[in-house]
Amino acid sequence: MIQAQVTKVQEIHVQATRIRQEKASDAAAREALLDAAYGPVRFTKPSQRLRAGRAPAPGLSYVAVEDGRVIGSVRLWEVAAGSDRSVLLLGPLAVHPDCRNRGIGGALMQHALRVARKRGHTAILLVGDPAYYGRFGFSAEKTGKLWLPGLPDRSRLLGHEMAAGALDGVRGSIRAPRKPARTRLIDAVAGLIGPPQPKAA
Ligand SMILES: CC(C)(COP(=O)(O)OP(=O)(O)OC[C@H]1O[C@@H](n2cnc3c(N)ncnc32)[C@H](O)[C@@H]1OP(=O)(O)O)[C@@H](O)C(=O)NCCC(=O)NCCS
Repeated sequence: MIQAQVTKVQEIHVQATRIRQEKASDAAAREALLDAAYGPVRFTKPSQRLRAGRAPAPGLSYVAVEDGRVIGSVRLWEVAAGSDRSVLLLGPLAVHPDCRNRGIGGALMQHALRVARKRGHTAILLVGDPAYYGRFGFSAEKTGKLWLPGLPDRSRLLGHEMAAGALDGVRGSIRAPRKPARTRLIDAVAGLIGPPQPKAA
């Protein structure tokens, strides 16, 4: 007698997390994620003043996506440190509160660092908890003579060298990079002559 065999198939839901470059269409989801991760205080952070109105460094904005939902974000920005250093500023890094402690923040960090190095960047700064960022090689060892306007607790200003010595002796303020001289000249002339006036009918 042939006995019918019944195989019970358990339902398994696999959540695949993908890290990919951010697209323009991710902007609303990214902002909602940052609201959920940081709340409104994010707009008052000193590093936010450096980022406001600027675009991130080319190719250095990443999102973590799961089932089509943006659950993580990291972006890096070009800044000037002291009188002679062009470096990156990382932040904000955020993972949705529902998705933490699964390695997504770590994966975003590792990916961003790898791409930044490949693109020839030599050092990254950020403002954050040394207890978290230390695992990615960030420390306050070489940032003691740097300051970020509005940041009272300088022990949270951390640096990571991707080329040996890239932060040696760095001192001064951290600020948005100056525009190239040509752009500044165009801006100055535009400021003098004002916007084009509409022609009288
Ligand atoms: C910080 C953040 C990006 C981490 O994302 P995540 O996906 O949970 O990170 P991971 O899963 O890769 O790592 C989790 C580990 O980091 C630790 N961790 C998270 N935030 C930490 C902090 N502020 N200080 C120290 N350790 C921290 C967790 O305890 C956990 O430790 P374990 O590996 O020993 O268990 C996320 O918590 C977040 O978006 N927080 C909101 C912003 C914030 O508070 N930032 C604080 C750092 S400046």
